[in-house]
Amino acid sequence: TPCPALPDGFDFTDPGLQERRLPLPEFARLRRTAPVAWIPQPRGLAGFDDEGYWAVTRHADVRDASTRPEDFSSARNTAVIRFHPSIRPENIDAQRLMMLNMDAPEHTRVRGIVQRGFTPRAIRALEAALRERATAIVAAARERGSGDFVTDIARELPLQAIAELIGVPQRDRARIFDWSNRMIGYDDPELAVTEESGTQAAAELIAYAMDLAAARAARPARDIVSRLVAAEGEGNLRSDEFGLFVLLLAVAGNETTRNAITHGMHAFLTHPGQWELFKRERPGTAAEEIVRWATPVVCFQRTATRDTALGGVPVREGQRVGLFYASANHDSEVFDSPGSFDITRDPNPHLGFGGGGPHFCLGRSLAALEIELIFTAIADTLPGIRLAGEPRRLRSAWLNGIKEMRVTYE
Ligand code: HEM
Repeated sequence: TPCPALPDGFDFTDPGLQERRLPLPEFARLRRTAPVAWIPQPRGLAGFDDEGYWAVTRHADVRDASTRPEDFSSARNTAVIRFHPSIRPENIDAQRLMMLNMDAPEHTRVRGIVQRGFTPRAIRALEAALRERATAIVAAARERGSGDFVTDIARELPLQAIAELIGVPQRDRARIFDWSNRMIGYDDPELAVTEESGTQAAAELIAYAMDLAAARAARPARDIVSRLVAAEGEGNLRSDEFGLFVLLLAVAGNETTRNAITHGMHAFLTHPGQWELFKRERPGTAAEEIVRWATPVVCFQRTATRDTALGGVPVREGQRVGLFYASANHDSEVFDSPGSFDITRDPNPHLGFGGGGPHFCLGRSLAALEIELIFTAIADTLPGIRLAGEPRRLRSAWLNGIKEMRVTYE
């Protein structure tokens, strides 16, 4: 039966909801009255055999489901909740090849290999290069005087960070950036993911990454590609696996971090006291609060592997559960004044990078580093940055995105 706490036909995956700013009041109502609530999805999902999903809105329950992978699978229906119409059943097989959508034991094997590229040491090794990039990006924006913050600043560093991480030569970066942008629908005014141009760009990116892997396997260099593919065999990725991994990085590491940066800037500019505080003290806690505030990924889904329960509610085998990080991050059971943007918040156990468990964001320290570096550069070089209009939001209920944000840089 539909949830009585919500209007008839209400669905959190409706992309029209993006016109409204997070956190949605419906989340707060569900946390209070029906923290694991059935949301019917009778329309627009032809080809799928179920008729809805459980919306999980409390922090404790999102964590619980994330850390019980044997009960709640990422592989069975993939981790991306069905936001009609961009995800179709015919794409699911391809999606399953990415680690985000795998279960143990495949996931354990791939994650064990790729996390070698994300050790604290590997991330620290990128810091100097990324600091230089951040400074250059901000300096170029200053020259322009005014512009779109998303294009000028927020989208650049995440692209550079991934290129740096996997060792893409400078001469190839323009092509990599173009594929990534096309794939995640950067140029599309409406949707986060467009099928046609996105598929073509993804194929080209995978082919490029496979060539890179083959080149590094033959002649290793000091980059993550070399470390992951060097000697093919046990404990290494095959070059096709590496291609898919780069695809995942381009999807998982770009738009998320870009939106964290844009939302963070918007939060600072609409909370001038926090911006003054940041410029003065640069608290190390700021990046995590920006991710909590932004919650760039609104939710991922799991599918029950057997009849079980979540938050005291019975969930049947095969049913989907939507883990709403955007709700968990405003749960007053866990956060004091969740509605205030407070860059000194500590502790800050937000679920913006996931609810823990085996899929917890692999790139979280890289993302936090990028956020810290870009806001440090902005505070140094553009202390008087101002909003010059309302941000234009991405039409998506899955990604909390800003497409465009006009600003003046001084
Ligand atoms: C997984 C969020 C940046 C790579 C995830 C998950 C979330 C997330 C919610 C899923 C967790 C789960 O299913 O339990 C974010 C946010 C970011 C960010 C909000 C920026 C602020 C990055 C970056 C990279 C990255 C910069 C890499 C360059 C990944 C990968 C996974 C992942 C590879 C899949 C891990 C797995 O399945 O084991 N991220 N992410 N992310 N993220 Fe991030």
